[in-house]
Amino acid sequence: MKKRVLVASNRGPVSYEFGPDGALTGRRGGGGLVAGVAEGLAALTPEAEVSWICAALSDADRAAAHRRSVDREEPGDVPVRMLDIPPETFDRAYNNVANSVLWFVQHLLFDTSNQPRFGHEFRRDWAAYLAYNEAFADAMADEAAEGSASSAGVRALIQDYHLSLAPRLLRDKLGDAYADVGIAHFSHTPWAPAEYYRMLPVEVGEAVLDGMLGADHVGFHARRWAAAFLDCCEAILGARVTRTDPVAQVMHRGRVTQVAVHPLGVDAPALRTRARAGDVRAHVAALGQAAGGRKLIVRVDRTELSKNIVRGLAAYRELLATRPEWHGRVVHLAFAYPSRSAVPEYRAYTEQVRQIAAEITAEFRTPDWNPLILDVRDDYPRSLAACAVADVLLVNPIRDGMNLVAQEGPVLSERGCALVLSREAGAAATLAGDALLVNPYDISETAAALHRALVMPDDERRRRSAALAATAAASPPARWLGDQLASLDT
Ligand code: F6P
Repeated sequence: MKKRVLVASNRGPVSYEFGPDGALTGRRGGGGLVAGVAEGLAALTPEAEVSWICAALSDADRAAAHRRSVDREEPGDVPVRMLDIPPETFDRAYNNVANSVLWFVQHLLFDTSNQPRFGHEFRRDWAAYLAYNEAFADAMADEAAEGSASSAGVRALIQDYHLSLAPRLLRDKLGDAYADVGIAHFSHTPWAPAEYYRMLPVEVGEAVLDGMLGADHVGFHARRWAAAFLDCCEAILGARVTRTDPVAQVMHRGRVTQVAVHPLGVDAPALRTRARAGDVRAHVAALGQAAGGRKLIVRVDRTELSKNIVRGLAAYRELLATRPEWHGRVVHLAFAYPSRSAVPEYRAYTEQVRQIAAEITAEFRTPDWNPLILDVRDDYPRSLAACAVADVLLVNPIRDGMNLVAQEGPVLSERGCALVLSREAGAAATLAGDALLVNPYDISETAAALHRALVMPDDERRRRSAALAATAAASPPARWLGDQLASLDT
C-alpha cells in the first residue's frame, strides 16, 4: 500500500480561463510555493498517492471546481480538488486578512503611523478567514478519513500564512480516531519578531500560533524565521520551547510540535533543460539585441511591496548619477509582473514603480542608449532568458522567506552573474559567502554594490556564480518535501 499525501495551499497547481467559446482551459499555476511543491511531488508520486487541495481563485476556477470534484490535468499530474469558497468569504480571507494583514506583519511592511487599524471590519474579515480555513480542514479531513483505510498512512502538508488555522482545525476534526494522520505546516514567508507580531489583536496573534501548533511539524526556509516563531510561541502563548538543533520543540496544550528549517532551492537540471527550449532561446536573442553589447543588471519579481523594487530603481539611479562612466555602458532590465491588484497598497506601489522608472528614463536616456527597460508583463520564458544573460542580478527584498530568483539566476547564468542580495532574504543564509550582501534600506550601499558587481573580474564572477548555483542545487524541491515527510515519520 502507498502513503497518501494531501497538500493544501491557497493557490493550486492549475488555474482556469474561459475561452471565447466558453470552454475551460487549464494553465499551470505560478509562484514559488506552487513550483516548489509541484516539483517536490513529482519526485514522490511513484511511492505515494497524492492529492492537492486549493481554492478556486476565479469564476473560471469555480466552474471547473463544479465540473468534477477531483481533476487531473494531464496523465502524471497530481489530482487537484478546488474548493469553491463563497467569493465574499474568499476575498475577505485572502485579500483582507492573509495579504493585507498577515503578509504585512511577517514582512514588516506597515507604515505604522497609519496602519494597521483593527476595528469591526477586521473582525468580520477574520471570521471569513476562519471559515476559509474551516473549508480546507473539512476537505482534508474527508480525504484523510477516506485514505486512512486504503493507504499506508496519511500525511497532510499545509502551506503558508493563508492556512495558519487549518492544522489545529484539522487535528480537532480528525480526533482520536485518526490520531496517526501526520500534519505538517510550512511557512514560505519570514516570521516577524515578537514585538512586531504583537501588533496583531491578542486573539488573532494567539489563534495563528495555536493554529500552526496543531501540526506535528512546522517548517521554515531559514533559521531566523524559525527562531522568531519560537520567540512568539514563548512570549505570546507562554508555550514551553526547547531550542534543540536541528529540530526544536514546542510544548503547547499537551502536545509537542517540532519546528525545523527546510531551505528550498531549485531543481537545477530541470531548470537548465527548460532554458534550452526555443521560447527561452528566442528571448535570449532579443534581450541580447536590446542590450547591444552593454552590461546587463537584471531583476525579476512580482510587483510586491516586500520586493523593494522602488529602492532598487533608486539605487540604479544613484549609480548613474554618481558614476557617469556607466552612461551608455549598462542597461537595467526590470521585470516586475503584476500581483495582488485587489489590494490598494499593491496598486499604489505599482504606480510608484512606473513613476520612478519614467523619471530615470527621462533623466538619463540618450538617442542611442535606453538605460532602463521596465516590463510588467508576466512572461516565464523571458524571465528565464533574463537570468541567463544577466551580468548582475539584483535581489533586494525588504524581507523574503527565501527568494527563488536569487537561486535560479546563478543556475541559469551563461557567463556567470554577480548577485547583489539583500541580507534580509532567507536565501542570504546559504548564499552570503558568494553574493554581495546589502542592507535593503540603504540605497547608496546598494548602488555601490551594483558598481562592485559590474566591475567584478570575469574569473571571480564566474567562480562566485558557480558556487551560488551549487548551493541552490543542493536543496532541490524533492529533498525539501521529502525531508518534511520524513520528519512526520519520526
Ligand atoms: O512567498 C509566499 C508565496 O506564497 C509564494 O510562495 C508565492 O510565490 C507567492 O506568495 C504567491 O502569492 P499569490 O498566490 O498571492 O500570488
